[in-house]
Amino acid sequence: MSEPANPVTGLTWRQKEVVRESWGKLGSEWKTHGVEFFIRLFKTYPSILAYFKTFDGMDFGAIRSSPKLRAHMLNFKHGITSFVDNLDDVECLTVLIHKMTENHFRRRITVNEFQDAFTLFATFIQEVTQCDDVTRGAWTATLTVISTVIRDHMTLLQSRGEGV
Ligand code: HEM
Repeated sequence: MSEPANPVTGLTWRQKEVVRESWGKLGSEWKTHGVEFFIRLFKTYPSILAYFKTFDGMDFGAIRSSPKLRAHMLNFKHGITSFVDNLDDVECLTVLIHKMTENHFRRRITVNEFQDAFTLFATFIQEVTQCDDVTRGAWTATLTVISTVIRDHMTLLQSRGEGV
């Protein structure tokens, strides 16, 4: 039995449900997993690490135990939680993503960094939670919706020539 997908996001009820369930588990253990995710992100993409000026000159051991890392990890977690909680309220979801986009656009972070981070995030989720392909596919679809909103908003901010 198929169900209609949301006309704006294209996500089905089932996809939203499995993402919520999956994040419910992973998010509650984010203090541990978040460190591993960000360290892996920085090792895979030194160009992403370079945006975190506060980590300049620090080795991975020092970054791993830095309170600044824990702070961004929590920012990331709260952002994902707010997006996942609002997949049914697309207008609110869009405002939340726009705010986050503006915060990062100001730091000259581009949509490419978000896309790289989200791709790694989907792989990380699958590894850590050992989820099935349906859950992995639902995450990929959800993260694609989020990065499309980021991309469109960055394009708008650029066209306005805004430092925000
Ligand atoms: C869902 C994804 C993300 C969320 C929700 C998020 C959230 C946040 C928030 C709330 C802040 C604090 C903003 C402020 O104080 O003005 C922040 C700072 C920052 N974010 Fe993100 N972020 C995300 C992904 C990323 C990615 C992919 C990068 C890659 C470069 C990044 C790089 C940064 C940097 C460099 C800072 C400044 C950190 C500092 O000053 O210590 N973020 N983020």
